This record gives sequence, C-alpha cells and structure tokens, in this order.
Amino acid sequence: MRDFKRYLVTSALPYANGPLHIGHLAGAYLSADVYVRFMRLMGKDIVYIGGSDEHGAAITMRALKDGLTPQEVVDKYHDLFVKTFEKVGISFDIYHRTSDPLHHETSQDIFRTLYKKGLFTEEESEQYYDPEVNQFLADRYIKGTCPKCANPDAYGDQCENCGSTFSPTELINPRSVLSGSEPILKKTKHWYLPLNDHETWLREWIEEGTVDGVFKHYPDEWKNHVIGQCKSWLDGGLQPRAMTRDLDWGVDVPHDVPGHEGKKLYVWLDAPIGYISATRQWAKDNGKKWEKYWKDDDCQLIHFIGKDNIVFHCLIFPAVLKAHGDFVLPYNVPANQFMNLEGAKISTSRNWAVWVHEYIEDLPDKIDELRYCMIKNMPELKDTEFTWKSWQDANNNELVANLANFINRVVVLTNKYYDGKVPAFDEDASFTGSSGDDSEFYDSEMLSLHDELQELCQSIRTFDFRSGLKSLMDISTKGNQLLQYNEPWKLVKEDPETTKTIMNLAIQYVYVLGVAARPFMPETSDKILALLNLKPLKEKGELLKLLDKLCEGETLVKAKHQIGEPLHLFSRIDDSVVATQMAKLIKEEPTPVPATTATPESKPLRDPITYDDFIKMDMRVATILAAEKVANADKLLQLTVDLGFEQRTVVSGIANYYKPEEIIGQKVTLLANLAPRKIKGIESKGMILMSENSDGVLKFVAAPAGAENGSQIS
Ligand code: MF3
Ligand code: ZN
Repeated sequence: MRDFKRYLVTSALPYANGPLHIGHLAGAYLSADVYVRFMRLMGKDIVYIGGSDEHGAAITMRALKDGLTPQEVVDKYHDLFVKTFEKVGISFDIYHRTSDPLHHETSQDIFRTLYKKGLFTEEESEQYYDPEVNQFLADRYIKGTCPKCANPDAYGDQCENCGSTFSPTELINPRSVLSGSEPILKKTKHWYLPLNDHETWLREWIEEGTVDGVFKHYPDEWKNHVIGQCKSWLDGGLQPRAMTRDLDWGVDVPHDVPGHEGKKLYVWLDAPIGYISATRQWAKDNGKKWEKYWKDDDCQLIHFIGKDNIVFHCLIFPAVLKAHGDFVLPYNVPANQFMNLEGAKISTSRNWAVWVHEYIEDLPDKIDELRYCMIKNMPELKDTEFTWKSWQDANNNELVANLANFINRVVVLTNKYYDGKVPAFDEDASFTGSSGDDSEFYDSEMLSLHDELQELCQSIRTFDFRSGLKSLMDISTKGNQLLQYNEPWKLVKEDPETTKTIMNLAIQYVYVLGVAARPFMPETSDKILALLNLKPLKEKGELLKLLDKLCEGETLVKAKHQIGEPLHLFSRIDDSVVATQMAKLIKEEPTPVPATTATPESKPLRDPITYDDFIKMDMRVATILAAEKVANADKLLQLTVDLGFEQRTVVSGIANYYKPEEIIGQKVTLLANLAPRKIKGIESKGMILMSENSDGVLKFVAAPAGAENGSQIS
C-alpha cells in the first residue's frame, strides 16, 4: 500500500438509456462512494468522477423504441441519474456527460494524437447494411437465428437465450431491426487499434505491476477475479479492435482526418475518455489543474466498475492511454461481481429489478438502510443476492437492535443522570469493574477503539467494504457490551464515580461511531453527531484526527459538553413493507407462452368421482418466489412458493419445460393439502397443477391475474 499525493476515482459511466437498478449501485457506485468518503475523512486529495455515457447503440435503440430522438433519451435519463445519485448520497465531485462539447473535444484530441502518431491501422471490412434505410447496422440492429441454439431472436453479437457471442455474419437469416429487410454486406473502412501489439506490455503490467521494469502498482492488491479475466483475454490473444463506427450518433471522427465522413468514435473509445473530460470540467469549475490528476505519477487512478467492464478498463483503455503517452495508467480496478435479486439475475427487459428511483419514492426515509444492506452484501468477490427479507433483517436485527439501541441508551442515560452534560470523572478513583483504576481502564478502552478503527480503515483501503462495515457494527456491539456488563442504571446508585467513567466512555464510543459511519451511511453519521449536539462532518481529515487523538488517549467529546435529546436512528421494518415490495416485484406476469395451434389428442377420461372426493382437495393460488435445479435430477426443480399465509418448498418435474430464472414471480395453482413426501431428499409439500399438451409439453395452470396468494380454488 503506497501513499500517493493525489487520488482520482471514477465510477463506470452508466448508459443513459434506462433507469438505475440496485445492481448498478452495488457494482460501481456505492463501493466508490464508501472509498472516496473514507479517503476524504483521511485528509487525502481525492477527486471523484462520474457522468452519463450517452453514445452508442444502447442509446439509439432506446430512442427508436420510445419514438424519441437520442438527445431526448439521454437528457431524460441523465436528469434522472443526477437526482437518483444525489438522493442515495453518491458524492461525485462532478457528474458530467459525454454529449457535452468539452467531451467531444477531449476525445477527438486523443483520437487525433493516436492517428498522427500512426498508431491506428486502417482496415476495410464488409459490414451489414440496410439498403432500405441506407444505413450500416450496429450489431444490436441486426437480429436473426442463433447459430448455436437456433433461438430466432438472437442479436447480431449475442444470443440472450444461450449466452453465446459471435459476429453478425454468423447469424442465420439476418434481418434489419430498422426495416425488417435482409441486410446486405457492404465494404467500409475503419481505424483499428492493434491491441495485439500491446499484448506484451499489458501482460507485464497486469502480472508484474511494472512497465518496462518500472513500478506501477502491486498486483497482489488487485482482485483475483480481475487479474483472472485479464489473463484469460491475454491468453486468448488480443485482436485489433475497430475504434470507429458508421453511425450518426456519437463523437465525430475529427474532421481533419481524411475519410472522416459519416464516422463516429466507437462508444467504448469515447466513454472512458469521459473520465478525462469530466476531470477537465471539474478543474475548470474549481480553479485546479486537471493534468495533476492524469499526467502526474503522483496520482493514483482507481476505476470502480462491474465485472462486465473489466476488459475495457484493464486492457483497451490502458492501451489507449499508453499509446497516447501522456497519461497515467489505472493503479487499481476493483471490479465487483453481480448482485442478483430474489434468486434470479436482474433483468431490465423482464423488469426483474429494484429501480433505485422507485425505492427512493417508496421509501424516502430508508436510504441508509439500503446503503447498509447493499454494502453488507456487496458482490466484491463473488455474485451475491439482494432479497427484501435480508434488507428487513439487516435493518431490524442490526441497525435497530445493535446500532440504534446502543446510541439511544447512551443519549437517554446521559440526559437522565447528567442533564445531558458529558460527565467528568475523577481519574484517580478506583474502578470496581476492572483490576486497574478508572484511568487505566479508560485509556486501554480508548486504545482498543483505536485498533478497531484501524482495522476498519484497513478494510476500506483494501476495497473490502463488507469487512469495514462489519468493523463498524463490532464497535457498536462493544459499546452495547460496555453498558450491559457495567449496568450504569444500577451502578449509578452504588458507585456514581465509576458510572461517570462508563458513561463518558460510552459517549466517546458514540462519537467514534458517528465518524466511522460516515463512509457507509452519511445521513446516519449526521444524525449521530446531531444527537451529540455536534456539527456534521465536512469530510476533511476528521477520521485522521480522530485516530491521532485516540492514540494519544485524548478525550474526543469533552466533559461538560451538552449533548442533544434522544431520537431513534432507525425503526423496525414490518413484514407488510416487505410484502408490498415483493408484490410490486412479481406483479409483472412473465411473457405469455404462445398458444399452440395443434389440436390436443384427447386422453380418455378417468373414472368418475363424487363431490366428496373432489372437496377433499384443497387447491390454492400461489406465487413462485425462488426456483433452482435439483442436483442429480434433470427433470426436477425445487421451488419456493408463497401461499400468502406461509411459504413452502415444492419439488416439481418441470425442468425440461421451464428455466428456473424465467418462472420467478409466476402465479400457479397448488394442490396444497397433498401429504408431504420426500423427493431426492427434499421434503415437497404440495403439487403444482400443470396442463399437458398432445406433445407431452407441460404448462402451468395459471391462476387469474390479480388473484391473491392463498385464495382457494373450488
Ligand atoms: N456505459 C457502460 C456500461 O454501463 C460503462 C461505461 S464505463 C466507461 O456498461 F468507462 F466507459 F465510461
Ligand atoms: Zn443461442
């Protein structure tokens, strides 16, 4: 871990083509925000850069779908992003956008430099072109049949059904999304960055942390999964990559480059340059020099991203920076993995997501609760999962029962015994609760607080925010134990002097929590300090100061200081809140299965039964909450279904007809009083009703839309 003079931190620029969901937050924003706030509290010179990614097919596709212009699309989402980030407390020093003229200028300058240095190759290739609308087609504008799985709706570069990637010319029966017509292949010329020429130094840089033997970073500070992904790209051999596109939305290829007509910069070339443009804008606005952050070896550049962005930030953008020659390389790229939601991958198209702006609308006073739960489950090293239940549990069992409980007790007792004034204590008095005297006890407690705080700091420095958050809660647990062991409410009568020591110490704990909570839960930090009648932090070296004071055994909140009135920091979240959010999540019915035209071959009817036989069956409406494959059983899925009054496990033989992730939220009918039985070692309680067509294909007997879970079918 080296100390640098300056730090520049970036979060991936989100595409301005749709709202942000919690997966975005957990991936690249909360992590960066915790880090940056912490570094500011340590008195570092640090700038935090963000902005909207407003170019590329992602934007024009959305415009096409919504009947808007690309500019209207990016304006809409850029504005929403600004508001959303502000509300969840992502503390960018600047939030810029790539449609800004300064960005166009910056990225054109970089393109021009590389071009003039002769670092691009020019290559002619054949690309799909829609003759009806006279336009080259970006990969996403071509659909066709997947060469691997025969899905008829695969995109030009990727099949969402089987996950394979390919080039558009491999698609079977390609068609243009714009006109539906069959595209033709047409010659076009582009500028390529020969990444293959960069392989050797990139490998040295990634594996050794040096460039030509000169230190750049410590590779063992990088996450394994990041290095692993880079190595697998390098091992596969890097290919030249086109840095331009035939498009009409984006940054123009500079007009002094011959052949620029109709060509735009590749979005993955211009977007990361957005970090530089944003820094330039910030420097302009604040009377600083942007070069100090981009062109000086004394600056540490850190990119926070999701794992799908690794290749761009660890190989392609560094190659551009190095080829240009003037810029520093990223010091670390602490990419996160993905956060799943209630047992399935977050999916924008299926609306399987918790949208951050909706969360803010529904739960405006529960922002830090969200931050807490997301940091606690941050996908730092592997994919994790958000569930509304875990959000509720984290709030009720940790924020309320531990943190808020401790702080509230301290504030209440201080007000009760000392009229809200921090009690002074006699340093020479003997302390009944420990072997030494009060003063010795007090000093050793302050030192151990110091050590715990150092641990928290070290976790944040190494991008282990989950552990950092745990350290925060451990300090609160210790505070609770201090009260629990010493029982000041009893001790106050027997030994008022020692009680003062305990209560003074407890107030110091509260202050430490107030400062240490800041990177994770900024509003809560303000509230804790307000309870102590202290001002909110400015994030200007306060944590560093605090550590020094603890080291020297200096009191943090002085005796006789008047604290504030008690107030609950967090309140319990009821089951009904969770139920409302779950209902909102699963209200979207999965895409209906197309009706089959074949007339089902009729099966002979079973023997007649009586009404009494029928009435024995208790059939209920239920919703599938979770689904997973059963190990060693190809046909079986293990389902968790919600019956309204309870949740239960059902094993069902439908794995050949449905994928686990596509049936989450499906309303079904359940034979609920079927005697439980064990299937593959799993206790299955009930049977999901299915209809079988003439080909033997099973489909759910769907419950009517709007039917409540648990309603009886008769
Ligand atoms: N817009 C991209 C995405 O959402 C991220 C761009 S990051 C940048 O995946 F570096 F290019 F800005
Ligand atoms: Zn496929």
